[in-house]
Amino acid sequence: MEKITVSFILNGDEVTAEVPPSWSLLKTLREYFELTGPKEGCGVGECGACTVVIDGKAVNSCIYPVAEVEGKSVLTVEGLAGTDGTLHPLQRAFIENNGVQCGFCTSGMLMSAKALLDENPEPTEDEIRTSLAGNLCRCTGYVQIVESVQKAVKMMKEKS
Ligand code: FES
Ligand code: FES
Repeated sequence: MEKITVSFILNGDEVTAEVPPSWSLLKTLREYFELTGPKEGCGVGECGACTVVIDGKAVNSCIYPVAEVEGKSVLTVEGLAGTDGTLHPLQRAFIENNGVQCGFCTSGMLMSAKALLDENPEPTEDEIRTSLAGNLCRCTGYVQIVESVQKAVKMMKEKS
């Protein structure tokens, strides 16, 4: 089978993958790198379960052709905690505020929120809701999810 070689930064490390050119970034992350945090929900760019951050932007990795990631920097939920294992404030807030039910949407929610807070550390509730609009939760826990992001904002503010 024909394969292409793609090199990029994955959660802070330089990596290279040899995968079929038809693969999406999501398939590459899950099957080549065995990072199963990003989930495949719809597979067509509509549910946000596969969201990762590429060069600072939240992206649906299921419809992102792997060839396009060459030279870019990708952050998945596996890279969200500190290298010493300390959870990111978003992760702590989701746990403490019941922002997780079945958990299927959670990594996508976290990564969309991460991209938002990196760009806008003090978002309004409307801005949080807009940034999460592409992330569907089949458990419909949206209130707790939005409150979790607000809690993370507070935690990050208190820390700074
Ligand atoms: S799995 Fe990618 S948007 Fe649904
Ligand atoms: S927590 Fe179940 S899909 Fe969101």
